[in-house]
Amino acid sequence: MVTQIIPGLEYIGVNDYDLDLFESQYRVPDGISYNSYLFIDEKVALMDTVDARMTDEWLGNLAEALDGRKVDYLVVHHLEPDHAANLGRVMEMFPGAEIVTSAVAAKMLPLYNEGLELDGRIMTVGEGDCLSLGKHTLRFLSAPMVHWPEVIMSYEETSRTLFSADGFGTFGTLDRQDDDWACEARRYYFNICGKYGAQVQAVLKKASALRIDRICPLHGPVLTENLGYYLGLYDTWSRYEVETPGVLVAYASIHGNTAQAARFLADRLREAGAPKVVLTDLTRDDMAEAVEDAFRMDTLVVAASTYDADIFPPMYDFIHHLRLKNFQDRRVAIIENGSWAPVAARKMQAMFDGMKDIDIITPSITIRGQFKSADREALTALAARLVAGY
Ligand code: FEO
Repeated sequence: MVTQIIPGLEYIGVNDYDLDLFESQYRVPDGISYNSYLFIDEKVALMDTVDARMTDEWLGNLAEALDGRKVDYLVVHHLEPDHAANLGRVMEMFPGAEIVTSAVAAKMLPLYNEGLELDGRIMTVGEGDCLSLGKHTLRFLSAPMVHWPEVIMSYEETSRTLFSADGFGTFGTLDRQDDDWACEARRYYFNICGKYGAQVQAVLKKASALRIDRICPLHGPVLTENLGYYLGLYDTWSRYEVETPGVLVAYASIHGNTAQAARFLADRLREAGAPKVVLTDLTRDDMAEAVEDAFRMDTLVVAASTYDADIFPPMYDFIHHLRLKNFQDRRVAIIENGSWAPVAARKMQAMFDGMKDIDIITPSITIRGQFKSADREALTALAARLVAGY
């Protein structure tokens, strides 16, 4: 699909409808887009390539948009294979082309391009460097760890366009976008970039000094209106601030008793007036969505069985994901189940103890096997206590 964004700037990206798991871990029921752009000016600048899965379609788009012109510059904002898989192909097709990228990317480039000869064909750019294309000028911003260390963004001064690499990206092909951009953008952000809030803050600070008319990310739609909304959400997310007051009840149950307790607690929370309650079954629901919801809200309740003198693995996996993504500054209540030697609560608390500013609600609650009337009393009291905090 080739579409004009503004005169001189074409969208030449592709939709991947068939990918089952992005990065081999994130469900993408609505697919994903790999975005690529082409500036056609006195010089022609190609902004990133696409995943190897979609090479043929993308090359067709490139040829159509070039309309006989040749690529002078291949700007590599991000070296990850979902964007740079066709770098070698482009350099072979256009012997006069130069790669424009960060010094870190230039060093990393051979890791993904064995045998590719690029002597004298890489122009490294750093913070504030400019590249004139004719009427258009690209100014580069370094954006390390958003989402890899080599990432750069670029700002085209005439059209006030920010090329934001993975930043402001989202899941879903361009024709299958949720009306609510934040829904999948949030799941994308916390799972892809969530660990790097400080680095995202640094980029947002640079962006605040620019007049931006559109944001062109490497996944998802080009953002053209109400940009303050998107920038504001990124500011909230990267500060690890609460976006939506409420409670996520996440459970991992073997035979259904812990699940029963979690559902009971969710009902009591709703009755007690919690602003929002989300219940997720970590053994079946989308882990990435559970991670997103944990960051979105202020309170997390984890309920898990004990398993082999440790935590039932789906819950361990969830808390491990939170740890990886820099989960912080939230209230956490813990419920365990164990028939003969319950230890899951102690083990879960130890995992949260290693995270920053986690307020553990004590004592934790222990269920022994079946969910019983005494457990109902304890969970009703927990619901009242959590809601009293609002
Ligand atoms: Fe879309 Fe970090 O690659």
